[in-house]
Amino acid sequence: MSTDGDLERAAELLRAGELVVLPTETVYGLAANALNPQAVERIYRMKGRPATSPLIVHVSSIEMARSLARQWPGEAEILAKKYWPGPLTMVLPKHASIPSNVTAGLDTVGLRMPRHPLTLEVIRRAELPVAAPSANRFTELSPTTAAHARDALGSDTPFLVDGGPCEVGIESVVLSLAGGQPVLLRPGMITKQELEDVLGCAVETASRIEGAHPSPGMHEKHYSPRTRVLLVKEEMPKQGRGVFLALHSEAAAGHVIRMPHTPGAYAQRLYSALREADARHADWIAIELPPADSPWQGILDRLRRAGMGVITH
Ligand code: TXA
Ligand code: MG
Repeated sequence: MSTDGDLERAAELLRAGELVVLPTETVYGLAANALNPQAVERIYRMKGRPATSPLIVHVSSIEMARSLARQWPGEAEILAKKYWPGPLTMVLPKHASIPSNVTAGLDTVGLRMPRHPLTLEVIRRAELPVAAPSANRFTELSPTTAAHARDALGSDTPFLVDGGPCEVGIESVVLSLAGGQPVLLRPGMITKQELEDVLGCAVETASRIEGAHPSPGMHEKHYSPRTRVLLVKEEMPKQGRGVFLALHSEAAAGHVIRMPHTPGAYAQRLYSALREADARHADWIAIELPPADSPWQGILDRLRRAGMGVITH
């Protein structure tokens, strides 16, 4: 785990325009000063991320978030008070102080206050908003431990703050408040139903194909292990050697990894289980399809992307 000196060092590096890896409650992030376009450019280079994929800006207070948005609607205030710090990103009209490479040229910015105490402290000390995508190469699995982040970035890994395993385990919910009606751009561990209840209005779901600027969370292939992933209901693949992420099934196909039964524990375990499965260099990873009800929506979304939507029956 990291020391107080590490937090100070991370804050100094951010102020100096360098990259650092920071823990959040969802996944580890590759962070840079969001107000410095050269620092932000380094993120894109290290990740191999296309310039068309906007970054999330992390803040340490609601006040800091307000200063980065051109408009701060009532819905933003309600949701920030209810869920921040926590796994919700709100997309709002961007303030001119945010360089255009942070938002991939869009007129909006994704803002979120992460719940990890070490990262909140680093942002406070740096006194800067922090742009941070997940600390992995483009299309690969997000890291949920410090070791995963080092694995993903290899010898390029910048100074890293180790905050232990991530508590939530999949990426934040992304909700746009930039138009008339709230639109769910990426599901996660806060459900659409919960958001609707808190807001007292309907939340739309974005279609897979969004206008001229698709969100990277919308890319079909994302959050992927290297091994071919199949989502299965009952039938196991007949050929080759595989790994099976089992939920309730007693089937003993290939090497079995038993997954937790509740959505919260499942999400927390998911990416480490996929990494373990991938490391076996098998012919396939079969994942038992979880229930379709709402607490599982964020998980199902990531599974579909990992499996390119392939479901066998
Ligand atoms: O949990 C998380 O959100 C993690 C941690 C590090 O905070 N970050 C993360 O970042 O997952 P990334 O870059 O892997 O995903 C960013 C998501 C993408 O789906 C992107 O489309 C969306 O946020 N996003 C960011 N800014 C946006 C904007 N202005 N308009 C629409 N979508 C935006
Ligand atoms: Mg990512």
